[in-house]
Amino acid sequence: MSDLASLYANHLATICRHADAALAAAHCDTLAIAAGRPLPKFQDDQDFAYVAHPCFKYWLPVTHAPGSWLLYTPGKKPRVLYMQPRDYWHAVPEAPSGYWVDHVDVVPVHSIEDLAAELPTDATRCAIIGQPQDAVGAFVPNNPEPTLNHLAYHRAWKTPYEQELMREANRIGTRAHRAARDAFNAGQSEFGIHMAFLAAAVLTEPELPYGSIVALNEHGATLHYQEFDRTAPAQHRSLLIDAGATHAGYASDITRTYASPAAGEFQALIDGMEANQKQLRERVVPGQDYRELHLEAHRLVAELLIAQDFLHMSADEAVASHVTSTFFPHGLGHLIGANVHDVAGFQASPEGGRIEQPEGHPFLRLTRTLSPGMITTIEPGVYFSPMLLDELKAKPEGKHVNWAKVDHFRQYGGIRIEDNVLCTNGAPENLTRDAFAAQPRT
Ligand code: GLY
Ligand code: MN
Ligand code: MN
Repeated sequence: MSDLASLYANHLATICRHADAALAAAHCDTLAIAAGRPLPKFQDDQDFAYVAHPCFKYWLPVTHAPGSWLLYTPGKKPRVLYMQPRDYWHAVPEAPSGYWVDHVDVVPVHSIEDLAAELPTDATRCAIIGQPQDAVGAFVPNNPEPTLNHLAYHRAWKTPYEQELMREANRIGTRAHRAARDAFNAGQSEFGIHMAFLAAAVLTEPELPYGSIVALNEHGATLHYQEFDRTAPAQHRSLLIDAGATHAGYASDITRTYASPAAGEFQALIDGMEANQKQLRERVVPGQDYRELHLEAHRLVAELLIAQDFLHMSADEAVASHVTSTFFPHGLGHLIGANVHDVAGFQASPEGGRIEQPEGHPFLRLTRTLSPGMITTIEPGVYFSPMLLDELKAKPEGKHVNWAKVDHFRQYGGIRIEDNVLCTNGAPENLTRDAFAAQPRT
């Protein structure tokens, strides 16, 4: 791994510059960002799992210090009010250490009273970022929109430091994907495959960037399938696994689809999707309008379904009549970083504004034009969703579908192939494929 200490110093200098503009836009003197606190469960003395706010992780590789705050006043060293509560029920965050510590002033605090004494006294001059439950007395999150917009817009471009964290998140994720594939080949249940993934990633579930999607056979048709069947099915025909990892709070988001050796017909469709995905990921280049890339993905899905005899119509007709949306009903991808679906995917400028999705494509999460430093997912898919197929069957366009073949493929669920790709001045850097290639061959 590169020298994270110097990368972090440059990262911090960059985000301080963004913060200067973000504060000026809201006429504020100080930026205060909460690390967040765990949400309590209703009528219970338990909390939901704690997850640090992504805007806090943008500043610090600190993922387990609930109640802490980051304070930044232009021209001064950032301060971290680092919460180490007096608590004998729970493990208290250890004294901070690591490459980042020398670049900020760490102020340990041990109670809400300590914290209140360190926070600015005039909250009206502060941009206070957080959720209502993060309030400390009269120091209440106000989330000024001009500040949020400035910070979010620039988060689309990952600094070399963030890029390095995301390379590592992809290394962890691909290592775990290999273990999951092996568990599929060994005939394990969805639950067993999930456990293999977690063990290889060495992550707990709350440390995942999103709930893993581990879908055998028909279950692959449900885009965000969230069950984990404890029992292995009689036959393992296919696995769609969409599962990522985190490193220092940064995410990877990786999907692979496998066919069993007996499912050669499904493997042929996967191979076609692989070829499509390759074309699309190679177009993560400066100046590429992501909306157009999404529409190109629809055209490629149409061509694939026509070539493999699922559809009997022209590609243009299939896209224009939204028949492709039955088979590919989600967006081509999204920005990714400290949030798995990163902020500002639609934002037109640092001030705000919105770049709308193309008509008829409401699920696309990224409409900006790509430029060096952005990291996006490329995740085309083809699914045999009972709900969407039934809707298409009832429409006039349904007559162009080879229903015998389509209905036969319902048993395989669907395909998604998802990589995380860095836009550069040259060829795109595929964080996911590079990480898979570096895994020991098995
Ligand atoms: N894992 C959710 C997504 O691919 O966007
Ligand atoms: Mn995914
Ligand atoms: Mn994704």
